[in-house]
Amino acid sequence: MSAFLDELFRYVGLTDEDRMRLVALHPVLEPKFAQIAGRFYDAVWADPRAAAVLSGPAQTERLRLTLIDWMSTGLLGPHDERFYEKRSRIGRRHVQIGLAQEYMFTAMNVVRIAYQEAILAAFPAGELGPMLGAANKLLDIELAIMVRHYQLDSEAKLIARERRTQADRIAAMQSMTAGLAHEVRNPLNAAKLQLELLDRRLRREHDDPRLTEPSELAGKEIDRLTLLLNDFLAFARPPELHLEERDIAELVRHVCEAERPGATKRGASLELVVAPPTLVARVDAMKVHQIVANLVRNAVEAVTANGHVTVELEGDYEAFTVRVQDDGAGIPPDVRARIYEPFFSTKESGTGLGMSIVHSLVTLHAGSIELDTGNRGTRFEVTIPRRP
Ligand code: HEM
Repeated sequence: MSAFLDELFRYVGLTDEDRMRLVALHPVLEPKFAQIAGRFYDAVWADPRAAAVLSGPAQTERLRLTLIDWMSTGLLGPHDERFYEKRSRIGRRHVQIGLAQEYMFTAMNVVRIAYQEAILAAFPAGELGPMLGAANKLLDIELAIMVRHYQLDSEAKLIARERRTQADRIAAMQSMTAGLAHEVRNPLNAAKLQLELLDRRLRREHDDPRLTEPSELAGKEIDRLTLLLNDFLAFARPPELHLEERDIAELVRHVCEAERPGATKRGASLELVVAPPTLVARVDAMKVHQIVANLVRNAVEAVTANGHVTVELEGDYEAFTVRVQDDGAGIPPDVRARIYEPFFSTKESGTGLGMSIVHSLVTLHAGSIELDTGNRGTRFEVTIPRRP
């Protein structure tokens, strides 16, 4: 049985005796089901906002029959996995039709009052308490399942909408960046070439540091701009995957080795703590390399001296997961919400493209990223299918 249902039964205190009482209640309530369903939909139609989600009499008639079945199966059980699955669909359906959550509570009260009236009329005083108790427990369980799945579905829809908006925003920035980067690339290459010619002539004819130094400095600035431009292009490049069989374990080991000197320089440690000897996947190796390198570099920058960054690689038949954990100060909520946004950076240097590149390359591989952050550090978990 579902852990949630199990927990719910325990919490509400629905016992085997209660279940037997509910079965005994069925013949008492059954003749009243049609009338209760009528009262239920009268109450719905009486409220303009609740009635607004109904399409008309044909649907109400269908819903009346559904409600009668719901009352009957609720009392008779069995309250098993199938019961739970059917009940969870009600919450999801209510999200689909746009029914505000509070109406489920008020509607449940209509049922509760009708059950109470019928029980009070049918049972002697000595049995009233346990009978009312069993009915109330059942309706509480029904409401809890309905509301839980209403909430889960609403959250899932919100997240999906947020992801779509983010993807649209990123796509717009990618096309703007692509245009800009291509415009800048040609004049930059031309300037670099001319500067190299000038530098060569100066060295040949004068070799005077007062003349060669400024040209060297200008050359370094152009190199810096070229690196920035490469970042822009990596972010803006049209999504194209060059898939090949690659050993991801080897790739992750290489990234760790390449990034370790940077960590050491900060007084931090960088360790690959879990990884199988080999893990072959069909990926765009350059892009996966960039994903892992960006994550590791970010983690190294997030820790202070004596900090730790750990990298883990795991895989099963379907996918592999790279986990990069740091023990830095964590990411504040306002930054967290914007972390994949292009050009968003909290660092003084950097383009603010690192995590957007990670996001777009992971998405390109049909993968997913999970982020878990708090005051004990941050963990990024990237999962990519082994055969996209
Ligand atoms: C105790 C509260 C409620 C219960 C037990 C209940 C029960 C159900 C059930 C069993 C379904 C069918 C779900 C499925 O597709 O499997 C459903 C759908 C629906 N419910 Fe409710 N409901 C409740 C409250 C409400 C309220 C207050 C409204 C107000 C308008 C409402 C409107 C609807 C509508 C429009 C549908 C979709 C019907 C269709 O498929 O055309 N429900 N509900």
